[in-house]
Amino acid sequence: MSIIEIKNVTKTFDEKKSNIHALSDISLSVEEGEIFGVIGLSGAGKSTLVRCMNLLEKPTAGEVWVDGKNLITLSSKDLRLMRREIGMIFQHFNLLMQRNVLDNVCFPMEIAGVKKREARERAMNYLRIVGLEEKAKAYPVQLSGGQKQRVAIARTLASNPRIILCDEATSALDPQTTGTILSLLKKINQEYGITIVVITHEMRVVEEICDRVAVLDKGTLAEIGKVREVFDHPKSNAAKSLLLERKIEQLGVNTADGI
Ligand SMILES: Nc1ncnc2c1ncn2[C@@H]1O[C@H](COP(=O)(O)OP(=O)(O)OP(=O)(O)O)[C@@H](O)[C@H]1O
Ligand SMILES: [Mg+2]
Repeated sequence: MSIIEIKNVTKTFDEKKSNIHALSDISLSVEEGEIFGVIGLSGAGKSTLVRCMNLLEKPTAGEVWVDGKNLITLSSKDLRLMRREIGMIFQHFNLLMQRNVLDNVCFPMEIAGVKKREARERAMNYLRIVGLEEKAKAYPVQLSGGQKQRVAIARTLASNPRIILCDEATSALDPQTTGTILSLLKKINQEYGITIVVITHEMRVVEEICDRVAVLDKGTLAEIGKVREVFDHPKSNAAKSLLLERKIEQLGVNTADGI
């Protein structure tokens, strides 16, 4: 069953000199329980697309259906409730710097009116899931990038989402830390059945965790399919050139290893 359906979505930003067509007539569905990747060059429209999925960005035209509801027609109250089901994590973590780790994770529960004691118990459980119990009292400045992202994931889990949208969640991390965050996302997907949408410019991320992938090219949907099919038999020029870059990158790494 599709949990997200994007139907003929267009997003145009009106700028003084000219209009920017960030998305042109995009249609795609994300199935419940899958890890869905969106890949493309910088400026292809990836962030705009993911922001349309929770209506942080309102499409100029088209429809956004989540869990059988058309977000565009929801009242602001219903939209707020719906958004609780959609967590989001970002490249730069977006933690509250003046709060410790535990209080960061408690934050969404505070907003939802969960009692303090219960919130703290649940937060400790989420920290256990991401493997950071011992950092509960630490402040964000005292953490590494990978640890900060794990706190952000725990905080997202605290709102009990059915969907997590990740916008370049591993782009600020080194390859090894990227690997641990990807494994954690996979674990959350498998153990809790949370649908995950991963926006990235790194082919490696898609290769490691995604079931299906959409390739964006200058605001259009160039290609969509199972990761293995798209990677082994790319049809669009956009996918072919991204794969070529990936091959060159791998060759570079292998050459460096060989020296
Ligand atoms: N708020 C905005 N106002 C005007 N133009 C915007 C806005 N947000 C995005 N754009 C433009 O829309 C296009 C798509 O941007 P978007 O951020 O979605 O790309 P992206 O694929 O996420 O790129 P990156 O990989 O660099 O993050 C770009 O041309 C961008 O300049
Ligand atoms: Mg982006």
